[in-house]
Amino acid sequence: MQETIQDIAIAMVAPGKGILAADESTPTIGKRLAGIEVENTEENQIKYRGLLFTTPEIEKYISGVIMYDETLHQSGKDGVSFPELLKSRGIIPGIKVDMGTEFFEGSDPSADGEKYTKGLDGLDERLKEYYKLGARFAKWRATFSISDELPTDSLINKNAEDLAEYAFVCQQNNIVPIVEPEVLMDGDHTIERCFEVTKQVLQVTFEKLKNRGVQLDGVVLKPNMVIAGQDAQKDTPETVADMTVKCFREVVPKDVSGIVFLSGGQTERQACENLNAMNSTDEMHPWELSFSYGRALQASTLKAWLGKDENIKNAQEVFLHRCKMTSMARSGEYSGDLEN
Ligand code: 13P
Repeated sequence: MQETIQDIAIAMVAPGKGILAADESTPTIGKRLAGIEVENTEENQIKYRGLLFTTPEIEKYISGVIMYDETLHQSGKDGVSFPELLKSRGIIPGIKVDMGTEFFEGSDPSADGEKYTKGLDGLDERLKEYYKLGARFAKWRATFSISDELPTDSLINKNAEDLAEYAFVCQQNNIVPIVEPEVLMDGDHTIERCFEVTKQVLQVTFEKLKNRGVQLDGVVLKPNMVIAGQDAQKDTPETVADMTVKCFREVVPKDVSGIVFLSGGQTERQACENLNAMNSTDEMHPWELSFSYGRALQASTLKAWLGKDENIKNAQEVFLHRCKMTSMARSGEYSGDLEN
């Protein structure tokens, strides 16, 4: 019997598990590899993704992996395709389907520089192909910068409408949409300002999802945490947790299957401390609060690897440790002492 989108969504946020975001586009993985002075060749990308996906025991902590189009078509050194390899380990393959951002002409002229996310053209056909290749969930990321004036209402509306259309088309194809409206951490804004913007973005997004007839119990939300800007003073994990959960309680419908946070530029430890605080508060919330980290699961692994075959084993140990720490944070059982 075919699994329903509800079954898949529940499996994505299974207890103790979360998602690895390994869907960096070719230019973005190039930046990560440049950080360890490794050339951005297809061979190196395959080697690196192979290292992650073959790490022993990650299936205890990782429910699904988001890949980029090219990765979904690639195979590791034993010739098994990456989606097949993940599936054989009980990990659900996922795929990023947005096509990046573009300057937004419909926005307020005073807000030059705002970008919307594109990718609806040909989406239905692409999803059909991705399903055949094994993908059972997808991701679409829309971003919002914060300033005194930004984001504009018109950008919020445009991105939310497109997220809703994307989610609808995914569900038509039996693929769970990860809906990712990301309020960016760049800048020196306060946590209160992040709260205000995140609340508005989520409110409009859920309005559009509802109007488009998207089934919320077959959606996974991937939001930012409510957190001060990168250049502002940091709040305690308890404050981040309280403000984030408060914001969601005000605007996220309880039917949503689960919430998986992005790390958005937080360090690996910070991303664990904040997630842990959310999962250890007494405040009741109806959703699983899990993770779908990219950088906060991979940063130390890249540094341990450095592009060298002789470092693969050690890099896999570092990666497994990160997966385990983040899983503990997702269960409210993390503490900094466990890092050593
Ligand atoms: P980060 O955790 O590095 O923010 O990446 C998550 C992601 O998938 C962004 O779209």
